[in-house]
Amino acid sequence: MTTVHEPTATATTADLAVWPASTTGPRHGDLAVGGVPLAEIADRFGTPVHVLDEAEVRDRCRTYRDAFPDAEILYAAKAFLCRAMAHWVAEEGLGLDVCSAGELELAVTTGFPPERITLHGNAKSPRDLETALRLGVGRIVIDSPSEIARLAAAVGADGHQKVMVRVVPGISAGGHEKIRTGTDDQKFGLSITDGYAQHAIARVLDQPQLELTGLHCHLGSQITSVKPYLAAVRRMVGLMAQLHEQHGLVLPELDLGGGHGIAYRPGEEALDLTALARGVRAELSAACSTAGLPVPRLIIEPGRAVVGPAGVALYHVLAVKHTGSHVYVAVDGGMSDNPRPALYGVRYTPRLVGRHSTAAPARVTVVGRHCEAGDIVAADVELPGDIRPGDLLAVPVAGAYHLSMASGYNLVGRPPVAAVRDGLARLLVRRESLDDIRSRDVGL
Ligand SMILES: Cc1ncc(COP(=O)(O)O)c(C=O)c1O
Repeated sequence: MTTVHEPTATATTADLAVWPASTTGPRHGDLAVGGVPLAEIADRFGTPVHVLDEAEVRDRCRTYRDAFPDAEILYAAKAFLCRAMAHWVAEEGLGLDVCSAGELELAVTTGFPPERITLHGNAKSPRDLETALRLGVGRIVIDSPSEIARLAAAVGADGHQKVMVRVVPGISAGGHEKIRTGTDDQKFGLSITDGYAQHAIARVLDQPQLELTGLHCHLGSQITSVKPYLAAVRRMVGLMAQLHEQHGLVLPELDLGGGHGIAYRPGEEALDLTALARGVRAELSAACSTAGLPVPRLIIEPGRAVVGPAGVALYHVLAVKHTGSHVYVAVDGGMSDNPRPALYGVRYTPRLVGRHSTAAPARVTVVGRHCEAGDIVAADVELPGDIRPGDLLAVPVAGAYHLSMASGYNLVGRPPVAAVRDGLARLLVRRESLDDIRSRDVGL
């Protein structure tokens, strides 16, 4: 993806490396995304507010289609889903990976073709499975042995459902231990090492109404190197060869999950998608040729890399406090709209927008408004030394796993989402109001 920015006195091209490609500096001190000044968005929708650059999302979908022309690309809805997002992804020719009846039903009721949807989940509820079968999802990925009989019974003797089995290939990769899912010491998938994967596959093959189309694995998230994916291809093809030998099985699909890493701060590394596509293609055809198997159709499931860099979170500063050697800049959002710093210690680079400051930079920690000392938005960052209440701060790379992980903590209400495109902003998701919160509170 090429990023073309018009640098200003306060925003250099390097500073804006992690911002949406449409970002410009129309006025001294302000930034515009999708042709709309961020200060204008804050005025119109209030803060905190999340801004989503539609063209950036669509461009990222196209980049995937170009890099993986023969693969099926499923957008991982857990990164962020709303009806507009489902439309954009569908229009760009991607499928969808969902992991609950809620994600599934929202997508299908807004017109997403169910046959292009895959249902995941390490603990699918009866409602998840019932909804998947009722709406006719393309595939269901089996994640535990007990699911096989439950699913077969729900499908019924005369029914038919395509399934995959989620395999743990025993590969450690990912930006934080809490988002590594390729090894045996976590809750997802069925291990090759202890034989649970092979056992589950044999049981699936005993169920005529379940059609096993292939194997799935997801190594983790925020992976910036191609190598673990190549190792995964070798392990998965190794298992496919074993299944061929034991059951005469030739599986037409291989799903390598998502996890493609992005840069959150200037200078950070992102996974090179072209190198990933080239490497996986070569490794897959070499491994299959050695095993004497046809090359299966590749499926990938990027979430963060599609929507993360398209989002910007806007906050107003409420207080600036000097304590000991620290300066705390407190904003009107925090861990209820972005739990990632508290969960994984993630770092961001916020910017002052809406006014031009000539003050020398100061090192500050941007914190949220919630009653929790770990409620941090951006630790130890540089902001102009004259930062003060009323200022507007923008946090880039806020599109993935912010609002989808938002909580009701302190009943502040979840922020709205506004889309920007061609100089226009429109509301996609409105702010959660006290009335919304009160309407669920039905007993005394
Ligand atoms: C099965 C599966 N696929 C895809 C993803 C998307 O990962 P990412 O957003 O890191 O690309 C996840 C994330 O948890 C996942 O569990």
